[in-house]
Amino acid sequence: MAVKAPRGTHDVLPSDSYKWRYVEETADRICRSAGYKEIRFPTFEETELFQRGVGDTTDIVQKEMYTFTDKGERSLTLRPEGTASAVRLCVENGLLTGALPVKAYYKITAFRYEKPQQGRYREFNQFGMELYGASAPTADAEMISLAEDFIKSLGIKGAKLRINSIGCPECRKGYHKALQEYFSQYKEELCETCNTRLERNPMRILDCKSPICKNITKNAPIITDFLCDDCRAHYEELKALLDNCGTTYEEDPGIVRGLDYYTRTVFELIHDKTGLALLAGGRYDGLVKEIDGKMDVPGIGFASGLERLVSVMEEEGLSFGEEPTTDLYIASIGENALRFSSALARKLRNCGINVETDIMARSLKAQMKYADKIAAKYSVVIGDSETENGEAELKNMLNGERSKVKLDESLAIIIRKG
Ligand code: HAM
Repeated sequence: MAVKAPRGTHDVLPSDSYKWRYVEETADRICRSAGYKEIRFPTFEETELFQRGVGDTTDIVQKEMYTFTDKGERSLTLRPEGTASAVRLCVENGLLTGALPVKAYYKITAFRYEKPQQGRYREFNQFGMELYGASAPTADAEMISLAEDFIKSLGIKGAKLRINSIGCPECRKGYHKALQEYFSQYKEELCETCNTRLERNPMRILDCKSPICKNITKNAPIITDFLCDDCRAHYEELKALLDNCGTTYEEDPGIVRGLDYYTRTVFELIHDKTGLALLAGGRYDGLVKEIDGKMDVPGIGFASGLERLVSVMEEEGLSFGEEPTTDLYIASIGENALRFSSALARKLRNCGINVETDIMARSLKAQMKYADKIAAKYSVVIGDSETENGEAELKNMLNGERSKVKLDESLAIIIRKG
C-alpha cells in the first residue's frame, strides 16, 4: 500500500500555494506597517520550556504534545505554539535588555495531538505577533486592532471580536477558591484530568473539551466578578480605547484560554458561520519571568491559524490576488533551436520575466498544448531560420496578435510593457 500523509496533517498543492503566500504576505504587510520584525526559532525545544511556559496542567501539555527523547537522552517537544519559543528567543538573545518595546512576529508550523476535524489539524500553520515591554492598555488596544486589521485585509467579514479580562495572579486567588468550591460539588462527574486540576489549577477545568465537564462549567463563577482594582481599571481603559477607535466587540466572561501564561486581557476573533477561532491571544505579563527567572517584562500577542483563514476565504469566494503565471513560452523545433531556446530562456529569466521552454523534446503541437495549459501570456516558436536570423514572431496568447521581435534581452522589455 502507498504511504499516506499522517492523520491530521495536510499537503499544499502547486495550484493552491499562491493562496497561502497571499495570506502570509498580508501578514508581513500588517507587521511591517506597525514596526514588527520577523523572528524564526526551532521546530523543537526542550520539553521544559512548554511545561513551564504553556503550563503543565493545560490540555496542550497534558495531552497534546509531540514529545520524544533524542539520541542524547534529551526530552524534546515539537512546538505546540509560538509564544513560549518567542519569549525564549528574546531572553536567550538579550533582546529584552535593550530598547523596549520589542515587536516580533513569526510564521510557523505547530503540532498538537488533537482529534482532527474541520479547522483542527495535528500539524498546522500559525502567524503570530508578540509585543514585549508595554503594560498599558494602549498596547492591548493596538494589538487587538492589528489582529482585526489583518483579518479585514484578507477580506473576511463575518468575524466577531470577543474580549475578557482574566486578571492577575493576585485577583485569581479568590477566583480559584470560588471555582474549587463550585467544582467540588461535581467531583464524581468531572473527568479524571479535571479532578487533578481541581486542586492545582481549577481554571483549567473551564476549557476542558469533555461534554460533561463543559456542561458543569456553564454555571461556574466568572472571573470578572473577582478582578482586583488595577485589573478592573486596565480592562475598563482597554474597552474605552476600543470604543474610541470604533472597534466593535463582545465581552465574554467565558473566555479563559487554554494556555496558562495569560494575565488580564484575552481575546478571540470568531468566524460567524463556522464558529472557528480565526485568531486568539492575550496579555502574558508573567511569562518572561517564568522563562528567564529574573527579568520581569510584560508581553502581549496573538496567533492565527492559516488553514482556517484559507478555507474561510475559499468558502467566501474571496480573492487571493493573482496566481503567478508564465509570461512567455518558447517553443522550439529541432535540436539547434532547443539549445538556442534554453539559453534564451535563461537570459530572459535573469531579466525578471517568467519563462518556460521545452525540456521534454516534445512535438510542436504538444508544446503549444502545454503553453495553453499553463496560460502563458506570450509564445514564440523557434526553428532553424529563427536561430539564424535572431528574430521570431511573438504571439499574444490572449488576443492572437503577432509582432516581429528580436530574440535577445530586448524581448523582456516588450513583454514587461505588455
Ligand atoms: P491558540 O488559541 O492555542 O493560541 O491558537 C491560536 C490560533 O491557532 C487559533 O485561534 C486557531 O486559529 C489556530 N489553531 C490552534 N490550534 C489549531 C489546530 N489544531 N489546527 C488548526 N488551527 C489551530 C496560541 O497558540 C497562542 N500562542 C496565541 C498567542 C500569541 N497568545 C499570545 N501570543
